[in-house]
Amino acid sequence: MNVMLSPPKSLSKDEANSDPIVDVCDVSLQYTAGQLSILATYKVSARIFEGDRFVLLGPSGCGKSTLLKAIGGFHKPSEGEIRLRGRKVTEPGPDRMMVFQEFDQLLPWKTVVQNVAFPLIESGKVKNRKEADERARHYLAKVNLTKFADNYPHMLSGGMKQRVAIARGMAMEPDILLMDEPFAALDALTRVKMQDELLELWDDTHFTVLFVTHSIAEAIKIGNRILLLSPHPGQVKAELNGLSRNELGGPKAQTLEKDIHHMLFADKATEEVRTHG
Ligand SMILES: Nc1ncnc2c1ncn2[C@@H]1O[C@H](COP(=O)(O)OP(=O)(O)OP(=O)(O)O)[C@@H](O)[C@H]1O
Ligand SMILES: [Mg+2]
Repeated sequence: MNVMLSPPKSLSKDEANSDPIVDVCDVSLQYTAGQLSILATYKVSARIFEGDRFVLLGPSGCGKSTLLKAIGGFHKPSEGEIRLRGRKVTEPGPDRMMVFQEFDQLLPWKTVVQNVAFPLIESGKVKNRKEADERARHYLAKVNLTKFADNYPHMLSGGMKQRVAIARGMAMEPDILLMDEPFAALDALTRVKMQDELLELWDDTHFTVLFVTHSIAEAIKIGNRILLLSPHPGQVKAELNGLSRNELGGPKAQTLEKDIHHMLFADKATEEVRTHG
């Protein structure tokens, strides 16, 4: 069942005036293991515009991570195509930086600042080590980690390690930051704090982010647009506009949460109706 919900769906300024940063056109993704072929997503389309906080929301196994990897250039679509600023995505590149759920994404033998500077140097994004170090410290300051810049990752908490991974991604100033459930492994309080910090960071720099979650509340808090995927294989169920910051926690947020919940669990009912109809 594909539902295109109407709530506040109006063309954003960017949508009306510009091309998308990422254009996902009818993308099916599959895994082949021996004779077995597993379809992860089926004909998914999405357009992500400059400055979007675009959330992919759906149940476990619906292909969110696979889609993110495909946009990252790590997984080739079996049908359809993905374009980044109009160019077909065929491989990974520094224009798409990823932040994962796991805390072990940092190189343990490098300090925090070296971890952030490393991709800047490797990709040739900056001219020399000094410039890399300066830019790394600039972004570490943005995630409130100036004091820990010269520590090693094992001396940091999980939340702090995630901040480093975010700073590392942002320091590359990519076209889009791809975040796969970056806060899912954190305790509830830290998770809320990190969500707030991410929004503050966005207020500061208006970066474009694709954020994967299976938490409805997190999707509503983070996203200005939410793409709802059906259970395995993931298909677009609805595309929703998010709420403004001052509507969070209010009646509109409650209604949206209920609507999304209903859509996520509507399939079962539909199946039953179909079976008996
Ligand atoms: N390396 C792999 N080989 C074979 N099948 C895979 C592989 N990775 C994922 N899959 C399958 O593809 C489907 C989508 O997986 P994916 O990890 O993208 O889901 P997800 O929405 O990110 O789930 P979760 O919320 O649990 O992280 C699942 O059915 C999964 O079993
Ligand atoms: Mg996943």
